[in-house]
Amino acid sequence: MSTLSRSDLGSEGVLVAVEWSSVNYKDALACSPKGRVARISPLVPGIDLAGRVVESDVDWLSPGDGVIAHGYDLGVGWHGGFAELARVPADWIVALPDGLDTREAMVLGTAGFTAALSVVALEERGLTPGDRPVVVTGASGGVGSTAVAILAARGYHVVASTGKADAEGYLRSLGAESVIPRDELAVAGGKPLESMTWAAGVDCVGGTTLATVLKRIDYGGAVAASGLTGGAELVTTVMPFILRNVALLGIDSVQTPIERRRAVWARLGTDLKPAGLASIGHAITFDDLDAALDAILNGAVTGRAVLRTRA
Ligand SMILES: NC(=O)c1ccc[n+]([C@@H]2O[C@H](COP(=O)([O-])OP(=O)(O)OC[C@H]3O[C@@H](n4cnc5c(N)ncnc54)[C@H](OP(=O)(O)O)[C@@H]3O)[C@@H](O)[C@H]2O)c1
Repeated sequence: MSTLSRSDLGSEGVLVAVEWSSVNYKDALACSPKGRVARISPLVPGIDLAGRVVESDVDWLSPGDGVIAHGYDLGVGWHGGFAELARVPADWIVALPDGLDTREAMVLGTAGFTAALSVVALEERGLTPGDRPVVVTGASGGVGSTAVAILAARGYHVVASTGKADAEGYLRSLGAESVIPRDELAVAGGKPLESMTWAAGVDCVGGTTLATVLKRIDYGGAVAASGLTGGAELVTTVMPFILRNVALLGIDSVQTPIERRRAVWARLGTDLKPAGLASIGHAITFDDLDAALDAILNGAVTGRAVLRTRA
């Protein structure tokens, strides 16, 4: 922990009194010597922040307004949210939507936004709640938990895949109708296609898990892929794509154009808002941050750790 002065944040952008941040896998990489995501040093990490405007250099934001920022260079190439104050370019800022307070916004954070982008991408391809089940992998983590909760709140039949033996109750409380073990999907090799089981998938695991999910998607279905906790390599065949018309949809939350980012956040306060948001987040302080960063690198986190940056 270090004390910086306001001038260390530079003079560009909107000055924000950060109220909440959150702990993401990428934050753990930014704080680890081998993580290779931090691009400036020293760096205030924290890829997510929500708070209130203190000083604004644009006419559409005034002191006291609630704001969210995440993605772009925040927390990797620009000082981020693990601090009481941040300066953020106005064109990275999302006004806090109706229907969310700053804590709820950070329970969602980058993970919830990525889950929402995944659901929106699947629905843009034609998925509807009356379809067959949707599988969510890495389901007890940040992207996974919020995807389960968003899909369940929208009326989908959700199948949650988890490696945590004790997570079943939690996942059912978010709305999962069934829970399957991670080992069932994290299998290398085998046949190019398996029985069609799910209309779609939200995958933040990658590797052999994503390869297995692709083999089991219904004709015309899709998988939204956002992560790599199970591996960056994808060994598959073209069969799901050319025989079942399955689509693999890439999801990136970092460079999402600001207009789409604001539109999806507005929906996170309304029709994409998950029920039980409070139960997904657990509040931590700066004293707990090191342990929370280690836990997420070890795949041991359930739900989302949200950092209270002010007493
Ligand atoms: N594309 C984007 O814009 C974007 C945005 C946010 C995150 N991400 C990526 O998405 C992934 C998840 O991020 P997160 O913040 O949700 O992290 P997280 O909270 O740690 O969740 C990841 C989950 O993956 C599962 N998992 C962990 N190790 C695994 C392994 N070896 N094999 C299979 N599953 C494993 C665990 O769930 P279970 O125990 O329930 O299986 C874990 O909780 C990361 O790779 C992150 O970089 C990408």
